[in-house]
Amino acid sequence: PGLAVYDPGFTNTASTRSSVTFIDGDKGILEYRGYPIEQLAEKSTFLEVAYLLIHGELPTKEQHDQWVHEITFHTFVHENVKSLMQGFRYDAHPMGMLLSSVGALSTFYPEARNISDPAVRHEQVVRMIAKMPTLGAWSFRHAQGKPYVYPDNDLSYTENFLSMLFKMSEPKYDPDPRLAKALDVLLILHADHEQNCSTNAVRSVGSSQVDPYSAVSAGIAALYGPLHGGANEAVLKMLKRIGSKENIPAFIEGVKNGDEKLMGFGHRVYKNYDPRATIIKKACDDVFEVTGVNPLLEIAQELEKIALEDEYFVKRKLYPNVDFYSGLIYEALQFPPEMFTVLFAIGRTPGWLAQWSELVDDKEQKIARPKQIYTGDRRLEFVPAAERW
Ligand code: CMC
Repeated sequence: PGLAVYDPGFTNTASTRSSVTFIDGDKGILEYRGYPIEQLAEKSTFLEVAYLLIHGELPTKEQHDQWVHEITFHTFVHENVKSLMQGFRYDAHPMGMLLSSVGALSTFYPEARNISDPAVRHEQVVRMIAKMPTLGAWSFRHAQGKPYVYPDNDLSYTENFLSMLFKMSEPKYDPDPRLAKALDVLLILHADHEQNCSTNAVRSVGSSQVDPYSAVSAGIAALYGPLHGGANEAVLKMLKRIGSKENIPAFIEGVKNGDEKLMGFGHRVYKNYDPRATIIKKACDDVFEVTGVNPLLEIAQELEKIALEDEYFVKRKLYPNVDFYSGLIYEALQFPPEMFTVLFAIGRTPGWLAQWSELVDDKEQKIARPKQIYTGDRRLEFVPAAERW
C-alpha cells in the first residue's frame, strides 16, 4: 500500500498467474496448455483446441463427441436476438453488431450471473463458442442486405459458418472441405495469445464477477480497435498501394526513413519469426489452390524477402507476424476487410473463456483496480458560479 510503480500499458506487470498459453517471443514459441501451436494447427481441430484451452487437457473420444454435440446444438440464437440485429443501420460495422449482440445475450440467459456454479459456467461457455459464428455471419449478411441464414447442424463448425455466410440458395450450401479446413486452422491460430489487450479486458471486466457475456463483449470491444485487431486489413491496403514488385525498394526506403511502418511486421512479444505466420503461409498455398492465387501474394513474398535481408529490420528483430499473410487468405475467401476482425473474435472466444474460467477459479484474484500517479491540482478553493462569472 502506498507504493505505485508507473507502468503504462502494463509492459512490465504480470496481472495474473496462468496455465493457459505460453509464449517465448525470443525463440518464436507459442504453446496452448503446453502443446506447440504447429502440432495443433496440423493435427487438431478448432473445437478440440477449444476443449483443450477450456479444460486444460485433451478430450477422450467420449468427451470430444459430447463437446462437439453440445456446441453443434447450441448454434441457434433466440429470435429476438435476430430482431435486435435487424434493427441496426444498413451500414453497421459487423464488429459493432457482434459486440452488442454478445452483450445482449446476458439478458437472454440471466442465470449466467451465477458464475460460482461450474455447471452454469459450462453452459455459457458452450453457448458462446456455438453462437459466435451465427452472430458473426448474421452481422455480415446484414451489411449486404441479405436474409440471415440459420445454422445447419449437419455441417461441421467451420462448414456451418461458411454456410451461414455464403449460402445463396436452397437446399444446402456445399462448402469446399479445403477452405473449411484452412478456416479451421486460422481459428486455431487465433484461439489464445496470453495477456493481450482483449484478454486483459475480459479479465478486468470479469474480475467484477459480471456474467461472461458482458465480459466477452468487453473483449470484442478491445479487439475492435485498430491497434489490436486491424493490422491485417492495413497489410492488404499497403500491398495494394505498393502495386507491383518494382515499387518495393522505394517503399522500403520510405519505411526506413520513418515515413510509415511495414504493416504485418514486428511484434511486442515476438522478436523472432511469429510461429503463426509460418503456418499461415502454408494455409495460403492450400486456399489459393482452390481460389486461384491472390495477385498480392507475389508482392508480399518479395517484400518479406527484401525486409528479412535488410539491416534495418534485422537489427530491430522485425519479422512477419500473424497478420502479414492472413488478410490475403481472408480476401481470397471472399471476406470484406471489415469481417477480418470478426473472424479473429470467433477464433479468440475459447481463449477469452478459458482465461475467464481461470480467473473465476483463482482465489488469489481480486477486482482489477490499478493504481495511478496523480498529476492534477490539489486543495483548490471552490468559488460558486455566481461569483466566478
Ligand atoms: N515497420 C518499421 N519499423 C518498425 C515496425 C514496422 N512494422 N515495427 C517496429 N518498428 C521499429 C520501430 O520504429 C522502432 O524503431 P526505433 O528503435 O528506431 O525507434 C523499433 O522497430 C522497435 O519498435 P517498437 O515500436 O518499440 O515495438 P513495439 O513492441 O512497441 O511495437 C508493434 C510492436 C506490433 C506495435 C509494431 O511492430 C508495429 O506497429 N507493427 C506494425 C503493425 C502490426 O503488424 N501489428 C500486428 C501485431 S500482431 C497481432 C497480434 O498478435 O495481436
